[in-house]
Amino acid sequence: MKKYFLYGVMFVGLVLWTAGCNGSGVQNSGGELKIVPRPVSVKTLNTFFALKENTVIRLQSEDDAVYDAAEYLQNMLQEKTGQQLEILPAGGRPDSRIVLRQVNGDEEIGNEGYRLKVAEDELVIIGNSAAGIFYGVQTLRQMLTKTDENSWGAPGAEIVDAPRFSWRGMHLDVGRSFFSVSFIKKYIDLIAMHKMNTFHWHLTEDHGWRIEIKKYPLLTEVGAYRDESLIGHYRDQPRTYDGKRYGGFYTQEEVKEVVEYARKRFVNVVPEIEMPGHSRAALAAYPELSCTGGPHSVAKLWGVHEEIFCAGNDKTFTVLEDVMTEVLALFPSEFIHVGGDEAPKKRWEACEKCQRRIKDNGLKDEHELQSYFIKHFDKFLDERGRRLIGWDEILEGGLAAGATVMSWRGTEGGITAANAGHDVVMTPTTHVYFDYYQSEDQENEPLAIGGFLPLDKVYSFDPVPENIAEDKKHHILGAQGNVWTEYITTPEAVEYMALPRMTALSEVVWTTEEGRDFDNFRKRLDNFLLLLKDNGYTYRQP
Ligand code: ACM
Ligand code: ZN
Repeated sequence: MKKYFLYGVMFVGLVLWTAGCNGSGVQNSGGELKIVPRPVSVKTLNTFFALKENTVIRLQSEDDAVYDAAEYLQNMLQEKTGQQLEILPAGGRPDSRIVLRQVNGDEEIGNEGYRLKVAEDELVIIGNSAAGIFYGVQTLRQMLTKTDENSWGAPGAEIVDAPRFSWRGMHLDVGRSFFSVSFIKKYIDLIAMHKMNTFHWHLTEDHGWRIEIKKYPLLTEVGAYRDESLIGHYRDQPRTYDGKRYGGFYTQEEVKEVVEYARKRFVNVVPEIEMPGHSRAALAAYPELSCTGGPHSVAKLWGVHEEIFCAGNDKTFTVLEDVMTEVLALFPSEFIHVGGDEAPKKRWEACEKCQRRIKDNGLKDEHELQSYFIKHFDKFLDERGRRLIGWDEILEGGLAAGATVMSWRGTEGGITAANAGHDVVMTPTTHVYFDYYQSEDQENEPLAIGGFLPLDKVYSFDPVPENIAEDKKHHILGAQGNVWTEYITTPEAVEYMALPRMTALSEVVWTTEEGRDFDNFRKRLDNFLLLLKDNGYTYRQP
């Protein structure tokens, strides 16, 4: 295929880079590089850095994590250009070099930001941290331009960039649908490509317990499998099932592999172990932890289920503490998600043990009993140097002292929590539930849970609502897109539902308020979509 490259041709102050047909190049016009999420500042220069045979990656850091970023860059360049650059430690001055330089105290770029300078014979990425350098590498990835059949490079530029929020997350429900380790890695790659840093792994559900716990093998032997799955939509009548046993789980070795894979991409994996609700799979395995004693089955119908962990039974706490102990050994994450959402209180109301617990502890009602439950694990995690995060129902009956709130039923819970001095991650259904339809033309979309959440609505989301007091706004750590998988059963479907809404979200959580503009985003998005396509991702063409 014929490639065109106009180098240094000026059209009344407009430099036009036209790249190849493989979709990998930056088509840069009007002085702005098409980078997503939009950087804080970009100055284009009338120069070009060409990858040469002798180009090397030169490290200016002793940090092992910067070496990880260098290896990522090396692999990325090899995949894209076929050329494997050597990684050299500091020292010497090779003729053509990509320099990864770690500095100290560059306040403008903060902990996760970077500077990228593309000059004639040197391309320098500077960060205070390895993560910042890694995000510079991600920007470079979007700037790579094919100049002819065998040559690659990047247009001259000076970029200064840093994220607006520290929690830039994507969630995935592997309880309703199970996804392989290889897809989980591909999903983590996607998170990293978007300069996002958090993978919220929803590991336990009514419909399947997905993480091996050595002390309680039945959690996966029994809890990881359901007899069959619903066909069609929940609201279809009569309901029919497919008659096929369904399930799977991650061994602890696989979990370690995923956590390590994520670490090398500067993605923190936050595990979620649901309590007290969404626990039917666990109760199918250990029915003595329920109020009725069972028997129970792993759920096959979507929705909220009445069987929840008995809060009056001491063994519930012992088992969940043991589970958490194994979870903490696998996940270095400071934050550990304990769910807390959608826990009907019907069983507790009728349970002698639960009622005794309420009485003995001077609790007012079942909401305070839920609060008692969550507070127990807040303390447990705090004593082990971790922090509890839960869905906004954990506000009901009183919020645990150290708890961080994930606000999903709108932003109200988040506002209340932030104003009370708690940290918050915003994930409202209205703006970041990527299981909702992307188009009003539902007939031509894959079956979804409902709703309507178009790209521009995601883009318009502001994680910091007006009615948070000025001195409490810093409690908003960021936002996260959620992907619930009742109706999303394949990797391609996950990608289709997440993309490009997640791309819009990446700008919500990264770009400054002043830098956000949907029309401008749309102009840059096509380039990013080509990058996704090149990397084998499925997306909805906006
Ligand atoms: C949720 O969507 N139930 C957190
Ligand atoms: Zn009970």
